Amino acid sequence: MNTPVRHAHVTGWGRYAPAQVLTNRDLERIVDTSDEWIVSRTGIRERRVAAANETTASMAAVASLRAIRTAGIDPDEIDLILLATLTPDYWMPSTAALVKEAIGNTRAAAMDVSAACSGFVYAFATAQAYIASGLAKHVLVIGAELLTRFLDYTDRSTCILFGDGAGAVVLSASEEPGGSLAFEMTTEPQGAYMIWLPAGGAKAPPSAGTIARGEHYIRMEGNQTYRFATRTMATTALSAIRKAGLEPDDIKLFIPHQANNRIIEAVAKGLGLPMDRMYVNLDRYGNTSAASVPIALAEAVNEGRLDVGDRVVLVAFGAGFTSGAVAIEWTADPARGIAGDAAVTADDVSVRLPVDWDSVDPIPEALAELMRRPGPVDVPLDDVVPGEPEPAGIS
Ligand code: ACO
Repeated sequence: MNTPVRHAHVTGWGRYAPAQVLTNRDLERIVDTSDEWIVSRTGIRERRVAAANETTASMAAVASLRAIRTAGIDPDEIDLILLATLTPDYWMPSTAALVKEAIGNTRAAAMDVSAACSGFVYAFATAQAYIASGLAKHVLVIGAELLTRFLDYTDRSTCILFGDGAGAVVLSASEEPGGSLAFEMTTEPQGAYMIWLPAGGAKAPPSAGTIARGEHYIRMEGNQTYRFATRTMATTALSAIRKAGLEPDDIKLFIPHQANNRIIEAVAKGLGLPMDRMYVNLDRYGNTSAASVPIALAEAVNEGRLDVGDRVVLVAFGAGFTSGAVAIEWTADPARGIAGDAAVTADDVSVRLPVDWDSVDPIPEALAELMRRPGPVDVPLDDVVPGEPEPAGIS
């Protein structure tokens, strides 16, 4: 008897972005930078900042419940939860375990995936393997990050880049062809120290010294990372596309990791495609690491950029140096996502804390201080007739 081929279809998708917006103008007030520099070098205009009562797990749970509602299944039908993050709530337990409880699932195995910004694509590929092998029917794949608590707000080369958020998909087994077609994953350890967070692990456990030296913040060699990204993104994507028996021109839309608009332009150029095949939302969220691809995918579908039968490629790079790409044939009704989003709010979710837990305010002091002081209001100068008295409010 032939074993049926099991395909992994995206049946649900959802995202969550915290309400608080941090603009480039806000950052101008704490580091020597400018909106013009950030926009021209990266494309980023603003990013989101999680509130004090939000965590990686809470944001992940909202995005997950939205994805589960979109898929039209019960949370308890999920067999496996894979959560990609470089900013887990704790070293242990896994953030995936906290999400499992918060979404009301009693059955699933739950674990975190660590591959930095490539984490969601790595987790997605792992989910496909679980489904193809018959080990799981519904897998919840999440990318969630709370990066604003791991940034040095005196380092203008990193603090302007990152933001917070979460995205999730449900992958479901089916004998119908389509869904996830092929993937490629690479790791180049010679780049291991190009983006890293030095302290807090076994090599450099946290101490007064590591904190005094700021070793608990993300460090990055921007130029080296940029070079790796522009070299690897197009080749990784191309490899997944060719494994699927396709050519770049067969792909309706690429969902690239949202790190830098110039890197995304290099991907388009490398694949010989126009920029309108690349989905871009980094202007509004900055780099949300493992969350960036699932947030962008959910937004692209909800904006009507994908239809049944379209081919889409997810492609990411990140610390490690890692990179990953997945080629997908889209099979879900795009209209389902908007209803799934509307069905779940942040108030519907809570992540349980131990009864004796007395947490400190988790927001870095420099960021908290910035948020407390409202910045100057942008005045539309085009409306001001020369010679008129200045409108009230301009200092
Ligand atoms: N505002 C103003 N000036 C700045 C800023 C800033 N925010 N940051 C750096 N500069 C200055 C530098 O000090 C430098 O000045 P100098 O010439 O006087 O020394 C100048 O701008 C140029 O700096 P570069 O680093 O060469 O600028 P570049 O054009 O390379 O852009 C950037 C820097 C945006 C970081 C770019 O290298 C980049 O995007 N790299 C990839 C980073 C990335 O994607 N990281 C995420 C990886 S994913 C993960 O796993 C977390």
